[in-house]
Amino acid sequence: MDLDAFDELLTPRGRRALAEAGELAGADPVAAATRLRRTYDAALTSAALTQAALRERATAKFGDDARLMYFTPHGLEQSTRTEVAEHRATRLIAAQVPAPGVVDACCGIGGDLLALARAGCTVEAVDTDPLTAAVARANAEALGLGDRVTVRVADAAAVEPERYDALFADPARRTSRGRTFDPMAYSPPWPVVLGLVSRARTACLKVAPGIPYTFIPEGAQAEWVSFKGEVKEATLWTGAAHEAGRRATLLPGGHTLAATGVEAGTGPAGRYVYEPDGAAIRAHLVGEVAELVAGRLLDPMIAYITGDAPVVTPWATRYEIDDVLPFSLKKLRAALRERKIGNVTIKKRASAVDVERLRSDLRLKGNESAVVILTRIADKPSVIICNQPSPI
Ligand SMILES: C[S@@+](CC[C@H](N)C(=O)[O-])C[C@H]1O[C@@H](n2cnc3c(N)ncnc32)[C@H](O)[C@@H]1O
Repeated sequence: MDLDAFDELLTPRGRRALAEAGELAGADPVAAATRLRRTYDAALTSAALTQAALRERATAKFGDDARLMYFTPHGLEQSTRTEVAEHRATRLIAAQVPAPGVVDACCGIGGDLLALARAGCTVEAVDTDPLTAAVARANAEALGLGDRVTVRVADAAAVEPERYDALFADPARRTSRGRTFDPMAYSPPWPVVLGLVSRARTACLKVAPGIPYTFIPEGAQAEWVSFKGEVKEATLWTGAAHEAGRRATLLPGGHTLAATGVEAGTGPAGRYVYEPDGAAIRAHLVGEVAELVAGRLLDPMIAYITGDAPVVTPWATRYEIDDVLPFSLKKLRAALRERKIGNVTIKKRASAVDVERLRSDLRLKGNESAVVILTRIADKPSVIICNQPSPI
């Protein structure tokens, strides 16, 4: 879809075509195109059907709002899901004057800027891509936020963060060769982003969860966020209201845990093994989680905690240990046969075993289920057989 095709979608005729395309969701694509072509030309038909399909896909991230919003395939892929954007907007508001003026230096289709505007901020946003900027603008209008949002086509380098209460930036992590994990390959480039941050009163940067610690600006707070157990991103906060350090936050619950520097001890397997949430692991908060469950590490280098008390915590999934064995295919197969285990969830950390190959080599038989954890204990390949997780 190009800018002209998108502009046409916003006309009354385009909106009618899009509404009709939406009603045809799930229909055979050729039949849907034939039906729309009776009324609309090929370009509008194609734009409407593409947009309707994107809206359908976007409901996973944007819920009911998706049915009113506009997307590009890349813009949707790179956008922040509503719950995560709302969490950030709420934090930003809590630390600011009542209705902060925020600049979004690379807004995409607007996942973040919409949450900021809904939280009460006035947002001035830029994006270098004219179509993406037009989509962000249309989204603000579609959700009734047009009076709080302006979107311009511009380079982040031209942004003047001094003019706002806060800077927000979510640099693109895609290059022509696909996704990048190197902050130096972000767009806008990392040095530009850091330059903006250094001039901002308060800044909030969305970065990849795997960001090397050396890239975290001095004095910043780094927050790793997971949603329903999946690590989504890290956010770097600067400004007087954000205490330096590491923290992890779990959404949608909103639980948050800050680094205290506590170190976990190491010891033999107890009655339970706890697997910390990925956000806590990324934030190096395994010691803090071990303290919460009165546990110890099975191995000093690996994020599995063991303990004897059945602690209920959102920070870790608890499994009851049935047996701990040195890793051996024959012994594991025999142990699972003896227990009539036909279904296993296999988890691994610090193990080179190919999980799918192991599953097939185990030739499982039986009606029982178990969780099998492959790891190293005291530097030896080991396997922990556990009962299914206890409900939390
Ligand atoms: C990850 S997306 C932003 C997603 C957005 N936060 C959301 O939730 O929808 C990054 C955006 O940065 C834009 N961009 C890349 N380089 C830029 C630059 N130098 N200045 C401004 N925008 C830029 C890209 O066009 C892309 O739309």
